[in-house]
Amino acid sequence: MQTRTALVTGAAQGLGQEFAVALAGHGYRVAGLDLEPQPRTAEQIPDYVELVGDVSDPDTVREGLERIIDRCGALHVVVNNAGVYPAKPFEETTLEDWRRVMRVNLEGPFLVTHSALPYLKAAGWGRIVNITSAAVLTAPPTMVPYVASKMGLIGFTRSLAAAVARHGITVNAIAPSMVRTATAERTVGADGGFEYVRSGQAVVRTQVPADLVSTLLYVVDEGSGFLTGQTLNVSGGSAYL
Ligand SMILES: NC(=O)c1ccc[n+]([C@@H]2O[C@H](COP(=O)([O-])OP(=O)(O)OC[C@H]3O[C@@H](n4cnc5c(N)ncnc54)[C@H](O)[C@@H]3O)[C@@H](O)[C@H]2O)c1
Repeated sequence: MQTRTALVTGAAQGLGQEFAVALAGHGYRVAGLDLEPQPRTAEQIPDYVELVGDVSDPDTVREGLERIIDRCGALHVVVNNAGVYPAKPFEETTLEDWRRVMRVNLEGPFLVTHSALPYLKAAGWGRIVNITSAAVLTAPPTMVPYVASKMGLIGFTRSLAAAVARHGITVNAIAPSMVRTATAERTVGADGGFEYVRSGQAVVRTQVPADLVSTLLYVVDEGSGFLTGQTLNVSGGSAYL
């Protein structure tokens, strides 16, 4: 089988870094797009294609994809992982807060996927994976824009799956629980957040990025061509889709 290429957004740290390294470990050529440089990811992946820019900027995304094709010749897998999850009381949430979350979490996946699609179609095979959240079901009251954006991503997943299936492309979403990443530790996981979420899970430990890897690899697997439009809830039993 030819070497396949995967693009992971938000690959500088956290889940995106874990996904990028896991895909490289399974033989993929990997590119990452992040607002930040990705030295920790790059040092673990031979021939890593590091793209620095905003997933919600059309020119950045288009140029980034052109660079991937220049360097790798093709693109097969897109992992829409870049996201933000600010917590704030609803009454204090501004229109700009709302728009920022929608821009990164929903417009970003739209733009990246839309720009990537011609390349996936040219390859005649593709896997699009959207990272949503079990928060769409546990619905924390301080994350209204986030929950709306991640629920939107599930709708995007379902409808897009129907739109692209004839090209041999599947589209699925993965919904983690609260995961111990540096950002979560600084924000939603601080002040007892991890303990609170853990107490609602059947699996009584905090989720770590490695807990999501087997699901990602399953979804992108050659043999998973009949799995599409689905949201895989990998949240330790905290929420049931
Ligand atoms: N950590 C959790 O508890 C948790 C739980 C459920 C879902 N998720 C989702 O998983 C994904 C990753 O979460 P994480 O905890 O690893 O986050 P993180 O903050 O550790 O990493 C996200 C990366 O995305 C990048 N990024 C942010 N905005 C961007 C933009 N506009 N363009 C390009 N890159 C951008 C950041 O620079 C960062 O490197 C997010 O979509 C998040 O909503 C996280």
